[in-house]
Amino acid sequence: MANSLTPENTRSEAEAAMVIVDMCTSWVYSAALRTIVQLDVPHILATHATPPNMAMTAEELLQHMDATCPSPRNLERLLRLLTIKGIFVEHMTSDDNARRFSLTWLSRCIVPGHGSYRNAVLHFTLCPEYSATLELLSDSVLKSTEPFSMAHGMNQFEYMKTHPAFLETFRIAFKDMGSSVIPQLMLQYHGFDSVHKLVDVGGNTGVMLAAIVEKYPHIRGINFDLPEVVATNPSFPGVEQVGGDMFEKVPSGCDAIFMKGILHDWSDEQCVKILTNCYNALPSEGGKLIMMDIIMPTETPLEASLPIQRKIAFNVDILMQIHCENGRERTATELEGLLKQVGFNSLQILAEVTGSPFHVMEAHKSTKQI
Ligand SMILES: C[S@@+](CC[C@H](N)C(=O)[O-])C[C@H]1O[C@@H](n2cnc3c(N)ncnc32)[C@H](O)[C@@H]1O
Repeated sequence: MANSLTPENTRSEAEAAMVIVDMCTSWVYSAALRTIVQLDVPHILATHATPPNMAMTAEELLQHMDATCPSPRNLERLLRLLTIKGIFVEHMTSDDNARRFSLTWLSRCIVPGHGSYRNAVLHFTLCPEYSATLELLSDSVLKSTEPFSMAHGMNQFEYMKTHPAFLETFRIAFKDMGSSVIPQLMLQYHGFDSVHKLVDVGGNTGVMLAAIVEKYPHIRGINFDLPEVVATNPSFPGVEQVGGDMFEKVPSGCDAIFMKGILHDWSDEQCVKILTNCYNALPSEGGKLIMMDIIMPTETPLEASLPIQRKIAFNVDILMQIHCENGRERTATELEGLLKQVGFNSLQILAEVTGSPFHVMEAHKSTKQI
């Protein structure tokens, strides 16, 4: 059935060609964003730009880079491209006719520091590991294969075990993204009040659990992740780091389990295994699972009428198709189906966490709720 918002027959073929060309070439934004982060441009602007407009020319920026044969023109091209996306503001003065660029609310979010998206840019743009998967996406359709495993001979979590640089960017990207969403989660969700022992399954560095425990010091936190991840994790007050495999078992003795962005990495069968282990680890009376996940929209409207968090749900769903074995974003009905299959009662969607593509949800083991 045609999308009801499609303005069929109202536009010319020439216009269609422009839209297609724009779509074909739009990967350059991602490439340019990756490059300016690799070149540390946001950081240089944040630390070296001076009043009145806090802007620098490409030539001035290059003085802070380790360039053997600098090309201000090539840097300026990237800066101009990203300026049309609002990443920089261009300032031109009549006296020297030079283009100067300053940070905006968008690029301030990738200046290195607490909660910065700098490492998310490095991880999620086309890093060499992900670039290698692109030509294999059609195989995911024709052969039901997973591009990441086809390109690298193993899934991305196995790959991380032997590729520390990839593991490190992944870890820091998730740590920073976790730090940036946690304040909003705590404003919108109050279900941690009643929890005494909380396990974060697939908690990565443990930064989210650390923030939860800091706000609710009566909670004892257990950050549970793969042994190789936990081995280099920082220590946080009130958080015990425990290594293991969630497909075998998750730490028991807690009254609640927190899980963010885990299920979308796995197939339905694997999710059932993880959820069964969570179910078994929780007490029969009052045990609850707190999930923070993307919910896949059931409708497929045009991009222009999608709120940005829903658009991200579609983007991330394809990322899962590329680098996770049968991973995908699920609708609320699909998530609830998996939870009920292992014995949890209904899924409660409590809030859409502002400034993120996630919803916070609860599933309970019994009708008695904590
Ligand atoms: C997408 S990341 C999410 C991290 C964190 N929950 C967040 O949202 O910031 C998935 C996490 O699951 C962990 N993981 C993957 N396989 C696992 C397993 N078999 N047992 C435990 N953790 C696992 C990864 O190491 C990674 O930290």
